[in-house]
Amino acid sequence: MNKQVVLSGIRPTGFLHLGNYFGALRNYIKMQEEFDCYFFVANWHSLTTHPDTKELKQSVYRVIAENIACGLDYKKATLFVQSDVPAIAELYLYLNMMAYKGELEKTTTFKDKVRQQPENVNAGLLTYPVLQTADILIHRATLVPVGKDQEQHLEMARNFAERFNYRYGETFPLPKAFNYGNELIKILSLDGNGKMSKSENQLATLYLADEDDAIRKKIMRAKTDSGPTEPNTQKPDYITNLFTLLQLVSTTDTVEKFETDYNNCVIRYGDMKKQLAEDMVAFITPIREKAAELQANETLMKEIIQLGAEKANKNAQKTLQIVRDAIGLNYF
Ligand code: ADP
Ligand code: TRP
Repeated sequence: MNKQVVLSGIRPTGFLHLGNYFGALRNYIKMQEEFDCYFFVANWHSLTTHPDTKELKQSVYRVIAENIACGLDYKKATLFVQSDVPAIAELYLYLNMMAYKGELEKTTTFKDKVRQQPENVNAGLLTYPVLQTADILIHRATLVPVGKDQEQHLEMARNFAERFNYRYGETFPLPKAFNYGNELIKILSLDGNGKMSKSENQLATLYLADEDDAIRKKIMRAKTDSGPTEPNTQKPDYITNLFTLLQLVSTTDTVEKFETDYNNCVIRYGDMKKQLAEDMVAFITPIREKAAELQANETLMKEIIQLGAEKANKNAQKTLQIVRDAIGLNYF
């Protein structure tokens, strides 16, 4: 039996952070052992919000290096850059004919971006979910490991795939968002304001490239409060977030100790943050060092990107042929 196809992408709009790691990368590393995997750097998507390309090349290299430093094996999975695969743009064109202005305008991420950059509400931004659908369908992927913020885009991808199948005949399997746990993950910013993200409050975001002292400082400043006063109180979301991080990088004994302290109203957040900071430093340091070493090796980086482009193009061309046949665009 053929393995299921997995696909996911990360935009090269800044340094990767723990949200990216736990929402996406951690799943990639596990999935590459089981499935036929495609992971890519979504540099076309980044042009919708970051038209200035001065730092784009460095960012693309860094995302590739950070993926590998986290454990992605570019020989097992296909690791490529979106703009190296022109077939995606052609499929995007066809899918645009079945995406309606009304539904695109209603997308949460579009509405957010309109608020954030009212001076640049471009058509690429409006059709962002269509391009994302093309990324997925060009490899006929069914599993898409992403964080919770991408849930709506995945629903839209399923709708567009269904519409294509309905109009031109069964062509695409339907993709869905994937996480190994039951729920998609959302890591909050350390200041408790919204999700951790590449471009928002950098002092409340833990980057995979952060130096040890920066990690300690950021964690020690993370939002807490004076602690619960009644046993077994429900945690506020910024405290849950610290526990989530603790679960991700510390031992179960450590997590249990602080859980018990919390439930007994004797928790000392200062101690918990100190422990979290040390465990986080131990987690991030090897990733940061490996990524820096890879990035410095330009020859190797180019080889990796070229290999990925070849593998991704080969598969994408196959799908494009099927798509053209389905639509009836074959004249000779
Ligand atoms: P960002 O939002 O930081 O710019 P991307 O949009 O490039 O990052 O997202 C890349 C992947 O990381 C996506 O799968 C996204 O769902 C996931 N992701 C981003 N931020 C978080 C977060 N705070 N918690 C969980 N997953 C996240
Ligand atoms: N939109 C995704 C994000 O902001 C990135 C992305 C682009 C993506 N194309 C994709 C994710 C295809 C999964 C599949 O995080």
